[in-house]
Amino acid sequence: MDNFSDIPGEIFDKLQAANQVVVLTGAGVSAESGVPTFRGSEGLWRNFKAEDLATLDAFIKDPSLVWEWYNMRRETIAPLNPNPGHLAIAEMEHLFPQFTLITQNVDGLHKLGGSTNPVEMHGNIWKTRCIAEGTVFENRDTPLKEIPPHCPDCGEMVRPHIVWFGESLDTIVLSCVFDAAKRADIFFVVGSSSIVQPAASLAHLAKSNDAMILEFNLEPTMDSDIVHSSVLGPSGETLPKFLESFKSH
Ligand code: OAD
Repeated sequence: MDNFSDIPGEIFDKLQAANQVVVLTGAGVSAESGVPTFRGSEGLWRNFKAEDLATLDAFIKDPSLVWEWYNMRRETIAPLNPNPGHLAIAEMEHLFPQFTLITQNVDGLHKLGGSTNPVEMHGNIWKTRCIAEGTVFENRDTPLKEIPPHCPDCGEMVRPHIVWFGESLDTIVLSCVFDAAKRADIFFVVGSSSIVQPAASLAHLAKSNDAMILEFNLEPTMDSDIVHSSVLGPSGETLPKFLESFKSH
């Protein structure tokens, strides 16, 4: 569906009555800001091998190579700004009694766009973590002052504060996102291929607890068979229009 007059009034009615609204975002929400996505023809995983750059084994083998890659991504992201999709999501938190934003993105653009408490499932590219003590530090140096960087407290190496392939998510984050999905009345999936677990299971969990699932993506995804409505198009355009239509409903 790409025409907002086609959206069944029932969807806006349910949204108006919703107590708990959850939005799950993926790389697509930041695409219009200029952040590369991971999959698809221009995706990062087309040109780079995840197993060489985004695993603990890769980091142990060659921390400098891994940090060079993250340094490059940080330099790409640093000058970028939130787009109207991020701003629409930030506005949504004021429209519903309870609102949870869950993001798979590590770029920090939701916070810059005004979202107060995004749950960053996969970490944050502007944070580092000491490999000895686990202490997390904010680090916005672009470029990094040293590669690999070291812990300001103990001098040991730090790693990106990012969940790599094969690693478990933080247990507090996990229980927070599963709890939000279970309680959702309306669950939005915005700009995610819905391939990577456990994020990909959240819409299914919400659906099995009777939530209405709304998807915003350029194209149909793995979730498309369980959604009530799929809005096709760039989320920086479709989300603000959807929100305007909802507010005037
Ligand atoms: P993907 O790159 O897998 O998927 C991006 C999705 O966004 C695709 O379905 C696109 O069709 C869609 N898309 C692209 N541009 C869009 C736009 N302007 N508006 C709306 N949709 C758009 O990204 P994720 O699903 O986020 O993990 O990937 C999940 C995880 O895989 C990432 O968090 C990352 C990666 O490996 C880590 O870095 C830990």
